[in-house]
Amino acid sequence: MREKKNMIQWIYSSKGNAELEERYDEWAASYDRDLNTDFGWLSPRKAVDAFAKRVPRHGRVLDAGAGTGIVGELLHDVGFEFLAAMDLSQGMLDEAARKGVYKEFHRMAMGSPLDFPPRTFDGVISVGVFTVGHAPPGSFDELVRVTRPGGHIVFSLRPDTYEQDGFREKQSSLEAEGKWRLVEEGERYKPMPKGEPEVYHQIWTYQVL
Ligand SMILES: C[S@@+](CC[C@H](N)C(=O)[O-])C[C@H]1O[C@@H](n2cnc3c(N)ncnc32)[C@H](O)[C@@H]1O
Repeated sequence: MREKKNMIQWIYSSKGNAELEERYDEWAASYDRDLNTDFGWLSPRKAVDAFAKRVPRHGRVLDAGAGTGIVGELLHDVGFEFLAAMDLSQGMLDEAARKGVYKEFHRMAMGSPLDFPPRTFDGVISVGVFTVGHAPPGSFDELVRVTRPGGHIVFSLRPDTYEQDGFREKQSSLEAEGKWRLVEEGERYKPMPKGEPEVYHQIWTYQVL
């Protein structure tokens, strides 16, 4: 097995979605232990707190880039019941299924068209997916399309990714086009104080218009 701390660099260095998917498939079985126990993964809790302030508990929720379902478990604990998991990696989705909290599973890639009708969800949450070499800023077009007007999209994002990879421009242009409005830009914090102490995240909340 690879050195645990090198797992993150190994993931970041994937060349395209096919390799990223393979690497997550391989990581799936030990992901929860590595993230929760060894790295101190804080973003799921922060994002779920922000989400639960805005989205009604009876709402239909898409967990985009659900991975092994850490976010779904937290959503379920605070009373959300209609949870759909979507991810690039079938291995990660298989782990998510074991959690017993999602009603649906969809293997799809953000950055490409999503196979959901418009206005399907009351809220979308996406944690740890807008980061180096993962889902591109263009993913937001589809997340907006599948969210009903008035619904919310909550996601974690690295501030350096925001500045350097086109997220600032994309987020602003969706605002300028009247597609969504910024509700809350959370404070910067260290999402993995033990695994990646030099990295920061912020939780962003938008309302679809
Ligand atoms: C760091 S994990 C985060 C998983 C989970 N949300 C969590 O907080 O533990 C990133 C996840 O995003 C998925 N992913 C990466 N790129 C994606 C894309 N373009 N579309 C959908 N899922 C993607 C990966 O397969 C992986 O499960």
